[in-house]
Amino acid sequence: MKILAVMGCSKFGNTTELVKYFFNQLSEQLEFEEEYLYLGDAEIEYCVGCHNCIFLGEKKCPHYHKVNQVEEKILDADVIVLASPGYMFSVTGVMKVFLDHVAYNCHRPKYFDKKIVLIGNFTRWQEKGVFIPMETWASGAGFQIAGKFWTDLMPFPMTSEVLDKKKIKINSEIVKIGKSLKSGKPRKLKFGDVAIFHSFRALCKIAPDILIADNTYFAEKKAFEKSAKWYIPIKVPALYNFLGNLMEKIVEKQVTKGTDIEKLKEIKGRYVTKLLNKK
Ligand SMILES: Cc1cc2nc3c(=O)[nH]c(=O)nc-3n(C[C@H](O)[C@H](O)[C@H](O)COP(=O)(O)O)c2cc1C
Repeated sequence: MKILAVMGCSKFGNTTELVKYFFNQLSEQLEFEEEYLYLGDAEIEYCVGCHNCIFLGEKKCPHYHKVNQVEEKILDADVIVLASPGYMFSVTGVMKVFLDHVAYNCHRPKYFDKKIVLIGNFTRWQEKGVFIPMETWASGAGFQIAGKFWTDLMPFPMTSEVLDKKKIKINSEIVKIGKSLKSGKPRKLKFGDVAIFHSFRALCKIAPDILIADNTYFAEKKAFEKSAKWYIPIKVPALYNFLGNLMEKIVEKQVTKGTDIEKLKEIKGRYVTKLLNKK
């Protein structure tokens, strides 16, 4: 098993220590090969908001080659670790820049055969701020989330009692993650996963000339067929499927009602609403 740690942190800090500790503990349960990829080394520029990745395809991103180097590494691994310390109650800038560039995966997921582990280092109350961006991307991009954990390694020394307590808590999470990585059970969908599928399918039907890449992806996956319940054949609970289809109809109706359909037919690519009527 190949595990790639995608690190949104400095090379010599506490988050690195935490991921090293994770690998060390995990090696008691599993055999694997580990690799670290520091996002800072990838030198990916800020997303410029051109929307090309979403509308036309990721290859049209001005930073495609740098982003693709990271994605190639992810595709080559079996398991990904996504690690970030808390910065301003969120992920670090370098992690956010990466997530912005791969957000298109939530429209066109491709990591269905991979598992992911999320690791955070921050003081309490920040779990949502740090994990929501990473988890939303991971689950939207198709990963099976094998587990997540966080701790608060401060930038000053702790007593051995405090540190031991933290290790006990982390160790029990790592045991659960190890079991999940060993298990051959397929991903269990949440209703949110099914709802996203139906929402994007509705939008593709309404604006196929704008969501060009998504439209091609849905067609390739045969996901426009009425019988399609998700992007890939996977168990979808009957209730989720029923509610998802209902939601799709509502989204289609609501968005169509609020859209200038005649004008939409003329639009190719990104549309910007002008709020001022200046000539
Ligand atoms: C710019 C910056 C912002 C930070 N913001 C937060 C924060 O919002 N919450 C928090 O718990 N810690 C915050 N910290 C502290 C770091 O999360 C903590 O020192 C962590 O160990 C840094 O990760 P590293 O040691 O892997 O570099 C911040 C640190 C920096 C440098």
